[in-house]
Amino acid sequence: MADNVVILAGGQGKRMKTTKPKALLEVLGDAMLEWVISACEEADLSRICIVKGYEAQQIDDYLGGRYTTVMQSERLGTGHAVMQAKQFLSENIDGYTLILNGDAPFIDCGTIKGALELHKSSKASVTVVTSVLEDATGYGRIIRGENGVSAIVEHKDCTEEQRKIREINSGCYWFDTKELLSVLDEIKPDNAQGEYYLTDCLSLLLAKGRTAQAYISENPYVSLGANDRAQLLELNTLARNNIIKKHLENGVEFSCTDGVIIGRNVKIGSGTHIKSGTQLFGNTTIGSGCVIGCNTVLKNVTVGDCVTLNNVQAADSQVEDYSTVGPWVQLRPGTHIKKHVKIGDFVEIKNSVIGDRASMAHLSYVGDSDVGENVNMGGGCITCNFDGENKYRTVIGDNAFIGCNTNLVAPVKVGEGAYTAAGSTITKDVPDGALAIERSQTAVKEGYADKKLAKRNEKFAKMAQEQQGESGKKES
Ligand code: UD1
Ligand code: CA
Repeated sequence: MADNVVILAGGQGKRMKTTKPKALLEVLGDAMLEWVISACEEADLSRICIVKGYEAQQIDDYLGGRYTTVMQSERLGTGHAVMQAKQFLSENIDGYTLILNGDAPFIDCGTIKGALELHKSSKASVTVVTSVLEDATGYGRIIRGENGVSAIVEHKDCTEEQRKIREINSGCYWFDTKELLSVLDEIKPDNAQGEYYLTDCLSLLLAKGRTAQAYISENPYVSLGANDRAQLLELNTLARNNIIKKHLENGVEFSCTDGVIIGRNVKIGSGTHIKSGTQLFGNTTIGSGCVIGCNTVLKNVTVGDCVTLNNVQAADSQVEDYSTVGPWVQLRPGTHIKKHVKIGDFVEIKNSVIGDRASMAHLSYVGDSDVGENVNMGGGCITCNFDGENKYRTVIGDNAFIGCNTNLVAPVKVGEGAYTAAGSTITKDVPDGALAIERSQTAVKEGYADKKLAKRNEKFAKMAQEQQGESGKKES
């Protein structure tokens, strides 16, 4: 069986002043916990147990049953947190256990694998991942001995001399599972914070004649976490700049990165221009030669090549090659825009397929619809997809022409090449090649306006005369 992972996510993050568990706070749109889980999965570790505590229900809701969780009812320290996972560890006791902090998002697959390799080759009982920091304040210090690591001392428990040590505990460790279980219950809260320190496992193992190793990660951010909002912003800024740098190296164009946020799983083709204010999240993929932005927000959107998205908000949607969308367009989940489509200003589309070369240039709502190829939809067209209880589909055949301000009351079908007259409210299917008009005839009353105008002019002339009379009185 594969190795175990325990992720500690019981903490509140008091200084964040939030009602969320700290590990659910986001870096570039993903919960810190998700970053940690992803690193494990990339390292082929999926036997994961998450220790929850503060607002545990939120962790459950977030995970949606993806992994085992255990409850830590009181936050008595990192050692106490791991104790809650004893059952989980006992079920798979032969291999190794990786322990991670749920609020240190930048742990990476390379570090996890490198540390395990050292752990196995050195035959240590525990291998701690470390970093060397300019400012080690707050972290546990690594005390090196002849035979690897001789202790980890928390900042608050350090002597003046120990505080000068810059090699710190990242909070990531590989343990032999059996060895971890053999000392876990011996941890005592006799320290400056009165907590059960997981790091005490190390000295307990050393006392039994075992050894501990330290693996210095090449990743300078491996130990970074956030205790307050300013640090969380710093993590975001750091990750943001690193990701933009990676895309620059891949040939993505940025003329100004103000307001640009790109999630860690987003893929962008070379020659695509990302303009300011653009935020790309989730599993968004963008092809080559596109212009995205300004002010475009995409979440889980697949964009083909040579697409223009200007001031677009889109989620769970797809836009194929050579289509242009925007400005000021919303694409809601389930929208699939095919090739060479033109979507203009103030259009909203939801759960609909828009065929090749279709055009809806202004002010439309298209919901639950199948729009064919070459369809032209005039300004102000609305699909009335909801009767107050249920939603229905609208089907528009290839080459149809939907006149301006048409209401299509679903369920309804407009045939291939059919027309609807401007201003019509279409409640019946329109056959192929037909014209549907659903509006009253225009009645023309000859000379009506001329009579009105003459009356008005008379009134104005009278008013002018009266005013003149009054001002004459004042002067005399
Ligand atoms: C811990 C380490 C320290 C290391 C640092 C790295 C110990 C004693 N110290 O310190 O050596 O340098 O991490 O960031 O382990 N948590 C729980 N339940 C608890 C306490 C904590 O789930 O009762 C979780 C927190 O949510 C967090 C993680 O464990 O995700 C680490 O806890 P934290 O309090 O931040 O540990 P530190 O004191 O910073
Ligand atoms: Ca911490």
